[in-house]
Amino acid sequence: MAKKTINDFKQMVEKGEKIVWLTAYDYLTAKMQEKAGVDMILVGDSLGMVSLGYDTTFPVTMDDMVRHCQAVRRGAPNTFIVGDMPYMSYQKSDEEAIANAGRLVKEAGVDSIKLEGGGELIARRVKAIQQAGILVFGHIGLTPQFMGQIGGYRAQGRSAAAAMKLVEEAKAIEEAGAFAILVEGVPAAVGKAITEKAGIPILGIGAGSYTHGQLLIYADMVGMYDNFTPKFVKKYASVGEVLTKAFKDYTEEVRKGQFPDDNEHTYKMSEAEVKEFL
Ligand code: KIV
Ligand code: NA
Repeated sequence: MAKKTINDFKQMVEKGEKIVWLTAYDYLTAKMQEKAGVDMILVGDSLGMVSLGYDTTFPVTMDDMVRHCQAVRRGAPNTFIVGDMPYMSYQKSDEEAIANAGRLVKEAGVDSIKLEGGGELIARRVKAIQQAGILVFGHIGLTPQFMGQIGGYRAQGRSAAAAMKLVEEAKAIEEAGAFAILVEGVPAAVGKAITEKAGIPILGIGAGSYTHGQLLIYADMVGMYDNFTPKFVKKYASVGEVLTKAFKDYTEEVRKGQFPDDNEHTYKMSEAEVKEFL
């Protein structure tokens, strides 16, 4: 199937077809997701937790993002890829934001970049990057790079005032030139209001069923990341258990001398060669 474009996503929204989105961080996972037919892949800075073992997304660097976006691109050459801008790669200046967004496009071949926040400064960066010719994905609501100000990993927009602020932020980011927005960790009513008022695709993660599409962190939905599981995650498989069992079985078999099997897993030499050799 041909790689989808911004026009395909607009059409999907018009037809009421849901946009399917998952995160991936490596070649193998991206390859399976392309085979499964997802519409988009996000190389999120959740990379920090899922693949690199940090507690937060803060330590993730541009070099980390470039390297993992490249791997995902190699695994999914025909899928629309969004690459996250890591912490402090776009906050400082328009120039730095454009240069770093450009690296993800130029060095890793992503189709779009995503950055967090709905305030004035972020709107300026969205505009600058967009004007440089790059598709910008906004991200509002529960934005992990604002964790200190949010005061923890918790749903946003649960009061009428906070909900109204999020609707305004979505408008501001759309007006700044984002081609789509991800809304994370908000009540369904807020996801719905933002979606109905928007003129661009609104994707949701933990934002209810009314958004134009859904995102999940792949390691959550296949049961691999068990440090913490948010309420909005549905577990479609227990891959972590399957892998752990395989590692355990292998460990036992090697220790007992049951693996490798002398016939099934072993290279052979002719009797004559063995004789001469020994
Ligand atoms: O980094 C990421 O994977 C994300 C999603 C969790 C929204 O931004
Ligand atoms: Na992210």
